Amino acid sequence: MEPHLEKIFFEMHTDLPREGPGDFESTKKAYQLLKDLPKQPLILDIGCGPGKQVLDLIKITDGKIIAVDNHQPYIDRLNVNAVSQGLQHRIQAQKGDMFKLQFAEHSFDVIWAEGSIYIIGFERGLQTFQPFLKKRGYLAVTEISWLKPNRPTDLTEFWDKEYPPMQSVENNLQIIQNSGLKLIGHFVLPEHAWMDDYYIPLEKRIDLYKAKFRDNPEILEFLAFNQLEIDLFRKYSDYFGSVFYVMQKI
Ligand SMILES: C[S@@+](CC[C@H](N)C(=O)[O-])C[C@H]1O[C@@H](n2cnc3c(N)ncnc32)[C@H](O)[C@@H]1O
Repeated sequence: MEPHLEKIFFEMHTDLPREGPGDFESTKKAYQLLKDLPKQPLILDIGCGPGKQVLDLIKITDGKIIAVDNHQPYIDRLNVNAVSQGLQHRIQAQKGDMFKLQFAEHSFDVIWAEGSIYIIGFERGLQTFQPFLKKRGYLAVTEISWLKPNRPTDLTEFWDKEYPPMQSVENNLQIIQNSGLKLIGHFVLPEHAWMDDYYIPLEKRIDLYKAKFRDNPEILEFLAFNQLEIDLFRKYSDYFGSVFYVMQKI
């Protein structure tokens, strides 16, 4: 993304509840698939964003969460929220790059990545994150995935531009198997997990920015592309979705 559009992107996304699809019930459902965890597991959240899923996860675990993201304002926001909820001894957010994680290998009982593994790529992410897990540790990620074939052309064209490596669920399950991880379970997030805390608040921002930049065709085009993503989800959410993949290191 061009730096001036990236600036608009981050401005427009400031203080949105989430930066991708997700909801408490799905986070809980995925976490409940993890068995035989220590009483106080050490969890690494990668690409935590503003950290809604971290604040959800902390309610259902007695463990500690280290959360990393490369965007400092998200880190600051999560740390402020952790302090205001008296959770600073159990949540520690810090700046970090998922391509160059600065932790010792075999450090974590669980690695969590909601809506962020696509940045490094699903296959490469599984390979890159796995060494930081203890033996029998768990990796839980959400990844946008095709749910059925014979997809409409406008939908395929959009996602071919936006995220060309997007795979079908079957292909991702094969990638998991090839990565030497054991699949514990997988499920599709409900539609409201996209809408309630992500697309609906984002759509309101898009409308505000459309009015603010009504004389700037380049920004209007960028905003239209953002709106198109939401419109295509509304129209075609049976063709693609965000899928939770829960895996174990063996
Ligand atoms: C789609 S958002 C998801 C955020 C959050 N997990 C959620 O579900 O709301 C992806 C996040 O990855 C972060 N990110 C991008 N590149 C990164 C990198 N190289 N290392 C760590 N985080 C990165 C972004 O700043 C953003 O917060």
